[in-house]
Amino acid sequence: MNNKPIETERLLLRELWPSDDKDMFELDSNSEVHKYLGKNPVIHIEQSQELISMFRNQYQANGIGRWATIEKETGLFIGWSGLKFITEPENNRVDYHDIGYRFMPQFWGKGYATEATKACLKYAFEEINLTEIIGAANEENNASRRVFEKCGLQFVEQFMWQDLTCDWLSISKEYWLEINK
Ligand SMILES: CC(C)(COP(=O)(O)OP(=O)(O)OC[C@H]1O[C@@H](n2cnc3c(N)ncnc32)[C@H](O)[C@@H]1OP(=O)(O)O)[C@@H](O)C(=O)NCCC(=O)NCCS
Repeated sequence: MNNKPIETERLLLRELWPSDDKDMFELDSNSEVHKYLGKNPVIHIEQSQELISMFRNQYQANGIGRWATIEKETGLFIGWSGLKFITEPENNRVDYHDIGYRFMPQFWGKGYATEATKACLKYAFEEINLTEIIGAANEENNASRRVFEKCGLQFVEQFMWQDLTCDWLSISKEYWLEINK
């Protein structure tokens, strides 16, 4: 990422810092948050510190990454949203850009994931000129599927992740430009 935070109407998207570890631990130790993520919440803060470090490596290596998502009005840490360059094979694809989000339950249902994701897509297509973004979610994760669709991602197919059936969605830069004329 460029080091400059991205602002939307209600949110600030900025780099995750090592000092976000307590907030990230609160997020990822919550079993409700992990309901559709393989039901494997973290149990030690070191796991959250490691995740932040992995996210920060992506800023250096790929100029993108999952971003801390902050509620502007309160300054509170909501969770993270943003891009990830996937280098491990998933659904027979490798080296592609994924979009995702993970927020604390008290911030759900306010349109924040949609607002953040729209800003991330704009960044991806306009600022760093990516050509396609993938979204993937457990088929039962209706909130996530809805966010993807509200942002213009389209269902492609289902695939297996571990033992879970997941939906694979995609949006091309061409289509994004078309719906954002
Ligand atoms: C997925 C998640 C980020 C959504 O965040 P959010 O800020 O609440 O999303 P938004 O408010 O922008 O949009 C949610 C949409 O899903 C809908 N929705 C929510 N729960 C739903 C459900 N159980 N069934 C169907 N639709 C649902 C909402 O009504 C809304 O759609 P609408 O605007 O048409 O009414 C949040 O639920 C979360 O952090 N979940 C835990 C982590 C996770 O599963 N991440 C996704 C992994 S792929």
